[in-house]
Amino acid sequence: TSDHLRHVQSMATMPSGAGNISHLKAIILGESLASEENDLVFPSDHFSCQAHVSSPQQYLEMYKRSIEDPAGFWSDIASTFFWKQKWGKPVYSENLDIRKGDIRIEWFKGGLTNICYNCLDTNVEAGLGDKIAFYWEGNDLGVDATLTYTQLLYNVCQLANYLKDVGVKKGDAVVVYLPMLMELPITMLACARIGAVHSVVFAGFSAESLAQRIVDCKPKVVITCNAVKRGSKVIHLKDIVDAALIKSSESGISVDVCLTYENQSAMKRESTKWLEGRDVWWQDVIPKYPTTCAVEWVDAEDPLFLLYTSGSTGKPKGVLHTTGGYMVYTATTFKYAFDYKSSDIYWCTADCGWITGHSYVTYGPLLNGATAVLYEGAPNYPDPGRCWDVVDKYKVTIFYTAPTLVRSLMRDSDEYVTRYSRKSLRVLGSVGEPINPSAWRWFFNVVGDSKCPISDTWWQTETGGFMITPLPGAWPQKPGSATFPFFGVQAVIVDEKGVEIEGECNGYLCVKSSWPGAFRTLYGDHERYETTYFKPFPGYYFSGDGCSRDKDGYHWLTGRVDDVINVSGHRIGTAEVESALVSHPQCAEAAVVGIEHEVKGQGIYAFVTLVEGVPYSKELRKSLILAVRKQIGPFAAPDKIHWAPGLPKTRSGKIMRRILRKIASRQLDELGDTTTLAEPNVVDQLIALADV
Ligand code: WTA
Repeated sequence: TSDHLRHVQSMATMPSGAGNISHLKAIILGESLASEENDLVFPSDHFSCQAHVSSPQQYLEMYKRSIEDPAGFWSDIASTFFWKQKWGKPVYSENLDIRKGDIRIEWFKGGLTNICYNCLDTNVEAGLGDKIAFYWEGNDLGVDATLTYTQLLYNVCQLANYLKDVGVKKGDAVVVYLPMLMELPITMLACARIGAVHSVVFAGFSAESLAQRIVDCKPKVVITCNAVKRGSKVIHLKDIVDAALIKSSESGISVDVCLTYENQSAMKRESTKWLEGRDVWWQDVIPKYPTTCAVEWVDAEDPLFLLYTSGSTGKPKGVLHTTGGYMVYTATTFKYAFDYKSSDIYWCTADCGWITGHSYVTYGPLLNGATAVLYEGAPNYPDPGRCWDVVDKYKVTIFYTAPTLVRSLMRDSDEYVTRYSRKSLRVLGSVGEPINPSAWRWFFNVVGDSKCPISDTWWQTETGGFMITPLPGAWPQKPGSATFPFFGVQAVIVDEKGVEIEGECNGYLCVKSSWPGAFRTLYGDHERYETTYFKPFPGYYFSGDGCSRDKDGYHWLTGRVDDVINVSGHRIGTAEVESALVSHPQCAEAAVVGIEHEVKGQGIYAFVTLVEGVPYSKELRKSLILAVRKQIGPFAAPDKIHWAPGLPKTRSGKIMRRILRKIASRQLDELGDTTTLAEPNVVDQLIALADV
């Protein structure tokens, strides 16, 4: 351990590098790490020795090259993939400065490739055909399945042939509303194989939200299953799709085919509602198709997928990722952040309906030829030991999850963890929200037996892959810090004027130049893309997150600084919840803020003004919550409805959320100046109703 520290300190002799990593140099390479040794958690020598990146020095050398010569750094890596035709020159081109014109990011333009081919065919050709690609663990104990790389390729080709047969062409969108069955990654890969653009909608979204996404991208085909079991509940997904398709047809969007997988363990086909002519059973058609399917070679900049995410205003944004850069970036981040080796068994608990499932269940692992576990069910079913049961069953070595799950499992007895061996584990990962140091320590000590580094990966739907993350063998870790930027990422912290701050500081997290995995636009709304991400701080990509940097250069994410709340790692726009509440006939106005929540990270706290004369009641509260569940999905249900005769507004009518946040968290002595309010007495009214 002290060797490692000395090693960090010896960095003072590193050659001076590019100015833009000067804060790293100054601090990491400085005289010494300012932290006490006992604030730091060191990887074991054993771990570091075998790691891809085994010292801060090696990281710095690679980082420096990635910043000074991005084209060279990323071309070298990209050359290890299969390209039907090599990319042209320049390797990348970008404009991130709104003052200089349209925002534009391109990587490997002119190169022809296919991500499905790189996930499957190249691995099979390299002799991994019989290697397990996915272990599938069903919701119920004892229900499981496997797919080798060859089998996965066959399945993908059959579906790809079917999609072509029903008229899906390169560039067409396919909407996918599936739970964590193997058919979900199979569908993503089949779309990619034929150049179609998948738009996966998390199967917890309501019919309303699904319809909105269908209307936005107008797919010919929607792919779903009849039902799924989560814990002891059966959820009828096909009914939700049916309702969404009725809604979208009201907006003039008709879908030709609804391909439905019969998920027998949840529901038999006989009890599934059916529309002849439109609905097709997966099992009736797909097995009849050939198991080979020619690849559609696509430009590196052709779209790969759309994924909707919440913003601070208006409707969800369709984040668009393209092929080549995303492929290179997800594969590389996966390899380094988890120190992936071919003998690893990897399990990420995220659902493919979110970006984590796209980049680090499907694409990143398969591009590395990895074996991954897919889990259908709820992580605490039938009891809070299920995760460790799965870890032991498949000898999982890398376990990647969200702080909300860690916190919820932490509340149960440690015995649920310690009754399992977990001997196979060697790297843990965290994503979705800041992990509080106490949860970090529990995860490290109890789950990882104090031997597994934790990769706390900061990134976003927009970034495609990890941006700030530990490299587990390289750094001493600090519980709760995402540590340092990944290769090629020029993360900077700016003040409210958009001026970069060096050294120890606190501000807004931005990125200064493009990276291969960056999103290229918001589908159908490039202007919103520019306004949301590039206008707030001209010259930079603005993440929407606050961040501080400590005296050793470690990064600490402090949460969203916009009107987005992060509930159990799910991004929810306060505006979306407000508009769902206001759709209720008895709601006149609503204002939503986030509050601290022990397990979920943030909870949803809604102030609701009722239509004149409507009395407060428990039933009304329930029906308001139901309105949100129906409009967005169960995961967006408010935790608290606070009756509000009026809302605190400025004289120009702007709701003062700062005051609402204080009332919601009962920090009543910190309300601040309320004299600028149009009606200062609404604050007293709100306080009086706090516990009603
Ligand atoms: C938050 C999920 C702190 C952050 C991959 C970001 C995190 C938003 C971390 C993106 C982390 C994600 N530490 N905060 N390790 N990871 N976040 O688009 O606020 O669903 O802006 O992508 O989650 O959420 P998204």
